[in-house]
Amino acid sequence: MTTPKKLFIKTYGCQMNVYDSERMAEALGGQGYVETATPDDADMILLNTCHIREKAAEKVYSELGRFKGLKADNPDLKIGVAGCVAQAEGGEIMRRQPLVDLVVGPQSYHRLPEMESKVRSGNKALDTDFPEEDKFERLKNRPKAKRGPTAFLTVQEGCDKFCAFCVVPYTRGAEVSRPASRIIDEARDLVERGVREITLLGQNVNAYHGSGPDGSDYTLAKLIWDLDKVDGLERIRFTTSHPNDMSDDLIEAHGSCSKLMPYLHLPVQSGSNRILKRMNRSHTAESYLRLIERIRSVRPDILMSGDFIVGFPEETEDDFQATLDLVKEVKYGYAYSFKYSTRPGTPAAERAQVDPAAADERLQRLQALITLQQREIQGNMVGRSVKVLFEKPGRQAGQMGGKSEYLHAVHVAEADVSVGDIKDVRIISAGSNSLAGELI
Ligand code: 5AD
Ligand code: SF4
Repeated sequence: MTTPKKLFIKTYGCQMNVYDSERMAEALGGQGYVETATPDDADMILLNTCHIREKAAEKVYSELGRFKGLKADNPDLKIGVAGCVAQAEGGEIMRRQPLVDLVVGPQSYHRLPEMESKVRSGNKALDTDFPEEDKFERLKNRPKAKRGPTAFLTVQEGCDKFCAFCVVPYTRGAEVSRPASRIIDEARDLVERGVREITLLGQNVNAYHGSGPDGSDYTLAKLIWDLDKVDGLERIRFTTSHPNDMSDDLIEAHGSCSKLMPYLHLPVQSGSNRILKRMNRSHTAESYLRLIERIRSVRPDILMSGDFIVGFPEETEDDFQATLDLVKEVKYGYAYSFKYSTRPGTPAAERAQVDPAAADERLQRLQALITLQQREIQGNMVGRSVKVLFEKPGRQAGQMGGKSEYLHAVHVAEADVSVGDIKDVRIISAGSNSLAGELI
């Protein structure tokens, strides 16, 4: 038997990159690679990168520089860049950092086995195509290894919305939905391997419009109802959604599908209609608030989460106040806020930029408000009972941790539970990042 080669993958950015990294590890598994937890003893290092904000791309170049010593010690070490920076920069990465042997975009990583052979024979390999063939089909025959209780499953990729700040439509391409039957097969396979909760992924997941098992046009809600019938699958989540694609059947599913968890990530980006228009969001603050009202009327306890950008070009203090007002009105359980980052090639990059110090200061104010809301909502959980899916032992001895329906991290001391169990838990106290509970 030949000794396996070691693969170190570092994943940046969104959950889809986490999913993609798993697929890449499986694809290279067929080439004799096993994953290792450190770059130090690796035969191949892959950085699965994110291009959403400027800092994310810069981090990749500084990380690559740090591998110089490793490559000097082990001339057989191959270094690859995957993901959205690979897609956006292509061959430029190899010019800027000659250490890099392989560059592969998010739509062509099923071709990694061929690319690996090419770099092993001393050549460079570059593939940033948007190929016709279905990468998911090529990657289907993965090993049947046991899995943890939660998994991601990509159902849709790409985006046709072209928000003025965003690189996603350029790096991930146009919207493509996978056929429903393939998704359901993949879900069944995950469940057989121990998975109890699946998060359906897509850059615009609620715009899902794949073909159904009978050839009809499927919506995300229809897909969720089919997954609801998969025995052994207990929880369904989906992310990330666009407000304009929250269709009636999806809202209804939140009221009637018991496996669909009461948590919704619904980015709005700004509370100012003027800025929303300049962002090309095609919704208003009012239409977003009305939408949330409708969702809460079918599922009053749903926990809302969102994304915000501050310091978007031309944003004034009044515009920013409108964002604070919207946040106060919605009361988010979680919210992610970012300082606007100029992305070359996007429409907003050409516009008058906000003074960075003003943007920093707004970001701090917004984050303070979000933290306050988050703490209040977590505090309100005390005394309530939730169902926790246990995922792993906690930091202290005897402790077990998992997630509630609302995606709150919950830990229980001295709990006689196993990973994968779903148990009723009463919340006894709220910390800043997690809740403590006891089994009922
Ligand atoms: N600058 C700052 N934040 C951005 N996002 C997307 N593009 C940018 C950018 N250019 C944020 C949005 C999006 C999240 C994933 O990242 O809030 O919802
Ligand atoms: Fe980017 Fe807007 Fe598409 Fe989301 S909806 S991926 S923010 S362009």
